[in-house]
Amino acid sequence: MRIPVLLLALWFPAWAFAGSAEPVSSEMIRLVRQDCGACHGMTLKGGLGKPLTREALSGFSPEALTVIILHGKEGTAMPPWKSLLSEAQARWIAEQLLAGFPEEAQP
Ligand code: HEC
Repeated sequence: MRIPVLLLALWFPAWAFAGSAEPVSSEMIRLVRQDCGACHGMTLKGGLGKPLTREALSGFSPEALTVIILHGKEGTAMPPWKSLLSEAQARWIAEQLLAGFPEEAQP
């Protein structure tokens, strides 16, 4: 079953408002650089997964990226993160990626 990403986003309108006011969290930055970086590259410029740079993701809305992060991409190696990340955290990551992910807090 493949549900269009945008349709899913509409089911969770709360995402549109969650998380934007959260402070930059060094724990989350580390998680993304390490766990997401395992596939997307430590610099997020791509590896097994596609690049997660601002340029590469410019066609995505924050909502669409949040859905991809929480639910993964069916039929690809991109796993769902909903058991590890809250919606607000996924939304935060999506917004940071779109803004150009912070470099700080690398181990
Ligand atoms: C096990 C490897 C793996 C891990 C870990 C992983 N991803 Fe992915 N991800 C992929 C692959 C492979 C794709 C490309 C799917 C495709 O072919 O469309 C992808 C695609 C994506 C996309 C869509 C990009 C696009 O251009 O379509 C986003 C956004 C994304 N990943 C974010 C993340 C984030 C954020 C994390 C960490 C929370 C993460 N990924 C962890 C493998 C991974």
